[in-house]
Amino acid sequence: MNNNTTKDTSGLAGRVCVVTGAGSGIGRGIALALAKEGGRIAVLDLNAEGAKATVAEIKVRGGEAAAFTCDTSDSASVANAAAQSAAALGLCDVLVNNAGILRPGALDVLTLDEWNKVLSVNLTGYFLCAQTFGRQMRSKSADQAGGALVHIASIAAEHVTAMAGAYSVAKAGVEMLSRQLAVEWGPHGIRSNAVHPGMILTPMSQAFYDQPGVTERRSQAVPAGRIGVPEDIAQAVVFLASDRSAYISGQSLTVDGGFTRMMLGLIPRAGYEGKAP
Ligand SMILES: NC(=O)c1ccc[n+]([C@@H]2O[C@H](COP(=O)([O-])OP(=O)(O)OC[C@H]3O[C@@H](n4cnc5c(N)ncnc54)[C@H](O)[C@@H]3O)[C@@H](O)[C@H]2O)c1
Repeated sequence: MNNNTTKDTSGLAGRVCVVTGAGSGIGRGIALALAKEGGRIAVLDLNAEGAKATVAEIKVRGGEAAAFTCDTSDSASVANAAAQSAAALGLCDVLVNNAGILRPGALDVLTLDEWNKVLSVNLTGYFLCAQTFGRQMRSKSADQAGGALVHIASIAAEHVTAMAGAYSVAKAGVEMLSRQLAVEWGPHGIRSNAVHPGMILTPMSQAFYDQPGVTERRSQAVPAGRIGVPEDIAQAVVFLASDRSAYISGQSLTVDGGFTRMMLGLIPRAGYEGKAP
């Protein structure tokens, strides 16, 4: 018997974890992973059917979850979902801001409506949920007070996504929102960190991979040699939501298989090519 082995706990068992946009893709993967750690999951999504399907998947695996229909860009809708989830599951311990949209649009022709739509979901929605669920984190009794915020931004926060309208601008805003929250709410025992996913196969990105050859070409641009899956992002979120990251706040973690470090690996360089031995 190995006496050095201790039970590896994340401290998430019994904690109320609110995941926005958890009715699909990355959000669903995060909800499943947090439930596996024993978290009690509030699944928030605009798409009621998607949210219910995630809850059903968690319950089949023996976890605890409830679905709440919510438009994260609408303050009344967020307040309503927050009240319902507190009544059903208890006050929020972990918030994962994830609900997002991707829309095409060159900046010279982008309408104000389209600009506002992307910012309202991808940035303002993150602020509204942080404010609303952050109040729940602060309102708990002294021994329970505090919590963890994890914001799903994107490698687009630091790298231009041309022709994608306001997407990168909003994601860059999320990165600074996360840092602001870390500083303003740190004294209340609340940590705030961001995760930057790279190329992940989800319903949002599926259409890219439906084009012939795209999966192969994109995979070649990633040191890990593959496109990511929601579980890749979920494991980073579990870490940042858990007590294992108790002293990490105001930081961003890129989860992209090394893609954003590949610049010099993408061009021909005679004498410096091929696989390392
Ligand atoms: N897929 C990728 O390659 C990738 C890469 C980087 C970052 N991201 C980010 O990850 C997050 C999740 O993306 P995904 O790929 O899983 O997308 P997805 O489209 O599969 O899932 C997004 C979910 O958010 C929900 N949603 C959209 N608007 C909402 C609103 N106003 N209120 C509540 N719910 C809303 C949708 O109904 C959907 O269930 C997004 O923030 C996205 O920008 C994705």
